[in-house]
Amino acid sequence: MIRRPDLLRGTTITGTGMYVPERVLTNDDLSKMVDTSDEWIVERTGIRERRIAAPDQASSDLALLACRRALEMAGADAKDVDHIVLATTTPDRILPSCACTVQQKLGATRAAAYDVFAACTGFVYGLGLGRALVSAGMADTVLVVGVETLSRIVDYTDRNTCVLFGDGAGAALLQACETGVGVHSVDMHSDGELGEVLEVPAGISRNPASVDTVEAHEHFIRMQGKKLYPFAVRSMEDSTRRCLEWAGWSPGDVDLFIPHQANRRIIDAVGERLGLGPDKVYVNIERYGNTSSASIPIALDECVRAGRLKPGDKLALAAFGGGATWGGSALTWTLPVARATRGQAAPGAVREAVS
Ligand code: ACO
Repeated sequence: MIRRPDLLRGTTITGTGMYVPERVLTNDDLSKMVDTSDEWIVERTGIRERRIAAPDQASSDLALLACRRALEMAGADAKDVDHIVLATTTPDRILPSCACTVQQKLGATRAAAYDVFAACTGFVYGLGLGRALVSAGMADTVLVVGVETLSRIVDYTDRNTCVLFGDGAGAALLQACETGVGVHSVDMHSDGELGEVLEVPAGISRNPASVDTVEAHEHFIRMQGKKLYPFAVRSMEDSTRRCLEWAGWSPGDVDLFIPHQANRRIIDAVGERLGLGPDKVYVNIERYGNTSSASIPIALDECVRAGRLKPGDKLALAAFGGGATWGGSALTWTLPVARATRGQAAPGAVREAVS
């Protein structure tokens, strides 16, 4: 929350980018792997298909392509970037950070780079950090990235989770702007009491990798979906209302709401509680499933490139995720529509060189 806005610089998004892998995994494909059906998945989640990274693609490869597109749209050079804040639950490795790998591949030689672990709320957390850095004058240009290769930690024998998740990356470039526009508010919360509702039980210090942990499938996501559902609806509504209030807006002022894409029913319930009609709520879950920290920046980039955002539009974001974490943001859009088509590329249509 801004307590002394007069002391701070404005911060805005000057470029966005996304990348999703080429391979499509449909509900029918999944019904050959576990006891499920297209009908069940569509009715309970809204998901029809999701993208899966190729065996030689790691999270940094996906992130790199999204970052390049965001820089291209902004007309910025990688060497302009002061910080890379990369949100993920699926880094290439635990050490070094995924952000450092992206920093090297991108040639962002001046940038400090680090990962943020906030599950599906990661991009919102990254936006909060990036905005704080720019507003306080500690950075002029911050690249915020959300990326996941969740297919690497999904148990494709567990029908409760394997139908939900997909891979992808999205990025937004944050730069200073006049005060009164751009990112007005970012709301960030956590509650570790809910930690076990969504977890990967083994692999690091609590339960190091062993033959036993591999045999017990403890390196995969485990989720108590029923417990998450009401929390997701309540937390996203609360956070959105708080961000709007800080911006001096009411839900009726919002031109576009981009929620984390976890489940169509959750999205619809939040939209309904906020009194937002379907034309105000962006949904792409049917094509990508839940891409965790990548879902909001992927959706944002789709909206930007499709011309759904014009300067002056009021935009709200909201997310929830493992941890538990949740948060949101309220922004006045500043990027001219003509600039938004720079660096356009059909997502996932072309397999690009990733080295
Ligand atoms: N196909 C067929 N049946 C299934 C499947 C499947 N893929 N998955 C579960 N079922 C069965 C269950 O086994 C259960 O059977 P039972 O009654 O015989 O035990 C039945 O369907 C009903 O299961 P529920 O869990 O009650 O189904 P629900 O309607 O709650 O939907 C879902 C499950 C989609 C997971 C829902 O609870 C949900 O979306 N929760 C939130 C989950 C979420 O958002 N997770 C990610 C958030 S955090 C992040 O984004 C990383």
